[in-house]
Amino acid sequence: MIIKTQTELDAMREIGHICALTLKTMGEALEPGITTRELDAIGAAVFAAHGAVSAPISCYDFPGHNCICVNDEVAHGIPGDRVIQPGDVVNIDVSAVKDGFFSDNGRSYALPPVKHTTQKLLDVCQSARAKAIAAAIAGQPLSMVGLAVEKEAHRHGLKTIRNLCGHGVGHTLHDDPDSVYNYYERRDRRILKPGLVIAIEPFICADDDYVEEMADGWTLKTPRRRQVVQFEHTVMVREGKPPLILTLLD
Ligand code: CO
Ligand code: CO
Repeated sequence: MIIKTQTELDAMREIGHICALTLKTMGEALEPGITTRELDAIGAAVFAAHGAVSAPISCYDFPGHNCICVNDEVAHGIPGDRVIQPGDVVNIDVSAVKDGFFSDNGRSYALPPVKHTTQKLLDVCQSARAKAIAAAIAGQPLSMVGLAVEKEAHRHGLKTIRNLCGHGVGHTLHDDPDSVYNYYERRDRRILKPGLVIAIEPFICADDDYVEEMADGWTLKTPRRRQVVQFEHTVMVREGKPPLILTLLD
C-alpha cells in the first residue's frame, strides 16, 4: 500500500507495534523445553489482547497463528509438538491484521550453545537487512534493496535465498509490489514511491540459494537441508531519508 493520510499511518504504526510486541514476547519465552505450539499460543494471546488477528490464519488458513521454523526449516513452519532443544535455531515470523491493516515482522534466534557459523549467519542477515532498509529511499529503484542484500551476503562469502522475497504489505499481507527481491534483478525497473510500505526480509545461507516445499504443503527447506536465517521489518518509504520502520518497539 501507499500511505497517504495520517489515519493510515497511525493504523500501520499500531499493527506494526502489535507484531513487534508479539515477536518480542515470543522471543523472550523461547527456551529449551517449550513446544512450538506453546510458543504459538503465547503469540496468539498477544494478538487477542490487542484486537489483532493472525494474518496466516485469516489469509491462508495456516494451521497456526505464527510461522515457527526450527533448524533446517526455513519458512512457513507449522507450530506443533516439537520441543525446543539447546542449540536450536528458531525463526519466528509474525504477521497480523487489525482494522484491515497488515504488518509483518520476523527474526531468527539461536539458543546456546551457538555455533560460530550460525552466529555469522545471524550477524550478516541483520546487517543485510539494515543495509537493505537504508537503500529504500523514494525515487531510487526498488532493485537497490536486493542489491544491498546480495552485496552484504557475498562480502561475507554467504548466499541469499533467491526464491524467497520481501513484499508490499498494508491492505493485504502480500500487497503491491509483489516481489522485493533479495538479489539484484537488473530487469526490475520499479521506482520506490513516498509512503510505499514494504516488508524487507533477507534470507541468508552459507551454501544453498533456494528452498523447496515439503510434503506437508507448507514448510520450506533448502535442497541440502542447510541452516537459513531471516530478519524482517515492515517499513514506510520516505523522501530524502531512510524509511520509517513500523515494526520497532520504540
Ligand atoms: Co514475515
Ligand atoms: Co514477509
